[in-house]
Amino acid sequence: MPSFINEAAWIASAKSKPLQVGPAPAPMPEENEIVIKVAYAAVNPVDWKLQEDASFELKYPFILGTDVAGTIVQLGSGVTRFKLGQRVIGHCDGFVSGKSSNCAFQLYTTCRDILVAAVPDSLPLANAVVLPISISTASSALFVQLKAPLPSLNSQSTGKKVLIWGGSSSVGSSAIQLAHASGLEVIATASSANHALVKQLGATDVFDHKNTNTVDKISNLLRPGDLVLDCISIEDTQAKCGEILSRIGGGKLPILGFPKGSLHESVERVFVNGLAPGFTNPKVGDAVWRKYIPSALANGKFQAKPDPVIVKGGLSKVQEGIDLLRGGVSAKKVVVKISQE
Ligand SMILES: NC(=O)c1ccc[n+]([C@@H]2O[C@H](COP(=O)([O-])OP(=O)(O)OC[C@H]3O[C@@H](n4cnc5c(N)ncnc54)[C@H](OP(=O)(O)O)[C@@H]3O)[C@@H](O)[C@H]2O)c1
Repeated sequence: MPSFINEAAWIASAKSKPLQVGPAPAPMPEENEIVIKVAYAAVNPVDWKLQEDASFELKYPFILGTDVAGTIVQLGSGVTRFKLGQRVIGHCDGFVSGKSSNCAFQLYTTCRDILVAAVPDSLPLANAVVLPISISTASSALFVQLKAPLPSLNSQSTGKKVLIWGGSSSVGSSAIQLAHASGLEVIATASSANHALVKQLGATDVFDHKNTNTVDKISNLLRPGDLVLDCISIEDTQAKCGEILSRIGGGKLPILGFPKGSLHESVERVFVNGLAPGFTNPKVGDAVWRKYIPSALANGKFQAKPDPVIVKGGLSKVQEGIDLLRGGVSAKKVVVKISQE
């Protein structure tokens, strides 16, 4: 068994700041797990939210982070579809497993096979790392909650539309592409500066969420049975998405956070668990992570967007990355370079 000298950016106790870099246990993968030498880790809103609010219990000291890109250095005994040295992305599930070994901000992380995908040589790891949590979360919303057809390289039109509110966000960028690959026609919102990006990802119509007539314009394009997904899920966006959905007869509105404010009774808000494809809905995990994403990345059908803003300097810079994201981004993902590829 190889042994790796590991280090992590630790959160010492609830709400403690800054993260402290120190030794971490050497990885010991279970049967279905893969050890990845982390080249890049992306930062997500959940990282600063957990550091500030400690809204769910973690066993401190703990390690934050969910998204990695790097190289496989060890395989669990039951993993057969990868090989040592392969370039991959992984969605780390430590917030569900409760194990810091399954978290991202360390030199060597351990990911479950179902949440790992090969990265083609043509795609830099610094770009690929923007994807993991957004792929899982968008899949959970579209394929677990809204029961859209699973994505395919040759999708057939369903004749339905989906509204992706927040199309330039990280989750929104993956949601647009997965919805397109599901056979849905995509309508999205984004600031006007990001309209070209959102169209390039596959949206046919894009509206500026800051315009006062956007709710009316989008409502006029949708029909009963069309779908709505709120990729921002603050009170204002829940209200607007709920209003649009109620005008076409109501239905399920997937949201990425807690319900805020009251909506029309025809609208049922459903919480999106970003890790559902790895745990409760493995059919979705299998279809997306094992089948669709590796082939769609390899043939250029799925793009690694939004582009990264790279913070260099290793684990000691993770806190800087978290603080940078806390300040807000527009169509960018904060990525920390953890080690040499
Ligand atoms: N439940 C889960 O499992 C789960 C998983 C992942 C994320 N989340 C949550 O999902 C949310 C989004 O995460 P993310 O990483 O995708 O965010 P992000 O990429 O950091 O979001 C940035 C984008 O939000 C857009 N935006 C900001 N305010 C908006 C508004 N009022 N209306 C429409 N768009 C707006 C901006 O678009 P413009 O610049 O174009 O205006 C910007 O591009 C966060 O709250 C996160 O915590 C939940």
